[in-house]
Amino acid sequence: MKRLRHFLTVTDVSDSQLRQLLQEAAKAKRQRRYRPLALSGKVVALVFQKPSMRTRVAFEVAVLQLGGSVIYLGQDDIQLGQREPIKDVARVLSRYVDAIVARTFSHEDVETFAAHSRVPVINGLSDLWHPCQALADLLTLQEYFGRLRGLRVAYVGDGNNVLHSLLDGCAMLGVHVSVATPPRYRPDARIWAAASRRAKPHGARLAWCADPRQAVRGADVLYTDVWVSMGQERQRATRLKLFRPYQVNQALLRLAKPGCRVMHCLPAHRGEEITQDVLEGPRSLVIDQAENRLHAQKALLAFLLGWRLEAGGSRQ
Ligand code: CP
Ligand code: NVA
Repeated sequence: MKRLRHFLTVTDVSDSQLRQLLQEAAKAKRQRRYRPLALSGKVVALVFQKPSMRTRVAFEVAVLQLGGSVIYLGQDDIQLGQREPIKDVARVLSRYVDAIVARTFSHEDVETFAAHSRVPVINGLSDLWHPCQALADLLTLQEYFGRLRGLRVAYVGDGNNVLHSLLDGCAMLGVHVSVATPPRYRPDARIWAAASRRAKPHGARLAWCADPRQAVRGADVLYTDVWVSMGQERQRATRLKLFRPYQVNQALLRLAKPGCRVMHCLPAHRGEEITQDVLEGPRSLVIDQAENRLHAQKALLAFLLGWRLEAGGSRQ
């Protein structure tokens, strides 16, 4: 099996590695003491340019429960790219620690980090991708539906980082994705084309339209994310106006399959991309989805750093 170094996008792992990661994540969820020594003696640094609750805390708890230690470095601590070049931070930091989780504005920055790091770099969210979120999303789907292949996910809202990673993961595991965004906010064309190519051999279809009502027809799951991502605050007024018809509310949910579930990566802006009643309603999976960040990230860390310690060379 190809040696894995970095996890910048879901496609950095093979289809079978992704399936294994999800199996491990489910195991981590079942077993209170999952691989308790996997990260023994190891230190993981979290280098975050943007705020975070789930990603940060889930990684910190995961590292601690796997027997390692963690150092959090926020933007005020190392002023990534301002005080010194990212290349220098990556080269020095990777001499100190065993893995780095980076949350950056530009995806290029996380790539620069990885290019100059001696240790695995995990993308903890960039402007283009959020692969750790997708791991938890897939785990949640698997958990609720007992399968992934053939499921129908509708994503309504902004064609952003969360959607890009969801598309990658769904394409790799045979999940159909139907996307509705305003035409100006379609997912990135190259990411879309690559995910569509990847989806084909798995029998999955990716479809885009501008009409949310069309996208949700027949959906098992309705997924949305904020309309204004971190770093886009200056576009807030324009975005709020343009995205208004894309709100996930009871009327939209009624057009999906009966029993359709609702997902959101959180944090949610109630009254913007999703209504309070839908977010808090019986169809909502959002809290379980957030919990699954912990289990998925544990499996990822064990996969990158500790797997062989306990499995005697086998990744199973
Ligand atoms: N979903 C997610 O990544 O949340 P945080 O920004 O709180 O980490
Ligand atoms: N798309 C959002 C996700 C936050 C977890 C953002 O980038 O701000």
